[in-house]
Amino acid sequence: QKIVVAYSGGLDTSVMVHWLKKNYDAEIITFTGNLGQSKELIGLEEKALKSGASKVYIEDLTEEFLTDYAFPALRSGALYENAYPMATAIGRPLLAKALVDVALKENATMVAHGCTGKGNDQVRFEVSVGALAPDLKCIAPLRTWEFKSREEEIEYAKENNIPVAITKDNPYSIDDNIWGTAIECGILEDPMQEPPEDAYLHTVSPEKAPDYAETVTVEFEKGIPVKVDGKELSPIELVNYLNEVGGKHGIGRIDMIENRLVGIKSREVYEAPAASILHFAHTELERLTLDKAVMHYKSLVSHEFASLIYNGLWFTPLREALQAFVDKSQEKVTGLVKIKLYKGTMRVAGRTSPYSLYDPSLATYTIEDQFDHKASEGFIKIYGLPYKTINRVEQKANET
Ligand code: ARG
Ligand code: SIN
Repeated sequence: QKIVVAYSGGLDTSVMVHWLKKNYDAEIITFTGNLGQSKELIGLEEKALKSGASKVYIEDLTEEFLTDYAFPALRSGALYENAYPMATAIGRPLLAKALVDVALKENATMVAHGCTGKGNDQVRFEVSVGALAPDLKCIAPLRTWEFKSREEEIEYAKENNIPVAITKDNPYSIDDNIWGTAIECGILEDPMQEPPEDAYLHTVSPEKAPDYAETVTVEFEKGIPVKVDGKELSPIELVNYLNEVGGKHGIGRIDMIENRLVGIKSREVYEAPAASILHFAHTELERLTLDKAVMHYKSLVSHEFASLIYNGLWFTPLREALQAFVDKSQEKVTGLVKIKLYKGTMRVAGRTSPYSLYDPSLATYTIEDQFDHKASEGFIKIYGLPYKTINRVEQKANET
């Protein structure tokens, strides 16, 4: 039998390859998806083979990740608990899908992942795999194996000649892709402690950011970012550029207490300069182009869409239905937003759209004014009528 392992090259998944081969007497195939993480994937194949894999898949999924997952999440306005742009969460369904594709191609009967038993990622992986290939069995060795600490895993690795990088021990657990970085563990588990500077990979602290503001202009077409500062860029170029310029100005650091699906609160630190800038700019453009009713209703959809991504429900009819609403809502979200970045803050410095619903002749207080002021009299009379009635009825009741 064959098992396809979602492989990162870290300690857990390296030990896992060997452990599965031994305990399941199976042929191990590894799969690694590149979502634009900053960590080098060079040397990964050799490492996987040395750990006991018979075959290694490494696929670059970065463009698909942005186009089919991160940008739809952006257009939906999904921020979990109004803060987290969900770089990790939105990557899991794509990794699961690519893993399933390899498993089916290889006629494997099982897939395995290296998520712990108390996180969201295990749920996202397994629910996605189940929705795409209900007969594939998922194994999560970290939930069941005998190792109780990193030290025990390192010991096992040494005994079995599994290559593990003996770098200076990083106190943090990091999950990184082009849409953002999640940083956990170590001192960060104390919510009263400010994250030390060395926890951050991609941003400078606002205090150390330049003493001048930098303006970036982002252009959207139907809610999809297509140009920065007038230059047409591919999704990868665009996001990389905004990560760089945002990181330089200390944009996109998020420190939050978060409600996990498995019932616990966790302290999470994130960096997501590009995602933060794009969400901010996109919302500003919607303020200009969406009518009031759609804009207000869409905030309910954003909330639901965020929960659904966070909770691992990407491959579901509800996500497809809500995304159809989002697609429709984005038809006129085309235009340009100027954003000023300055010491960790963002301000809108201008916005324009061919579909702008801002009508100067209605908004102006000058002689150009076309608004029918007299019509307001009747409008207010009827709009406020229920409250006059309430007061009159109360007065009458109090008299008797
Ligand atoms: N709590 C975040 C989330 O659920 C971050 C998870 C980070 N994952 C990881 N394997 N380090 O999306
Ligand atoms: C894990 O526990 O595997 C990482 C954290 C998470 O999934 O929320």
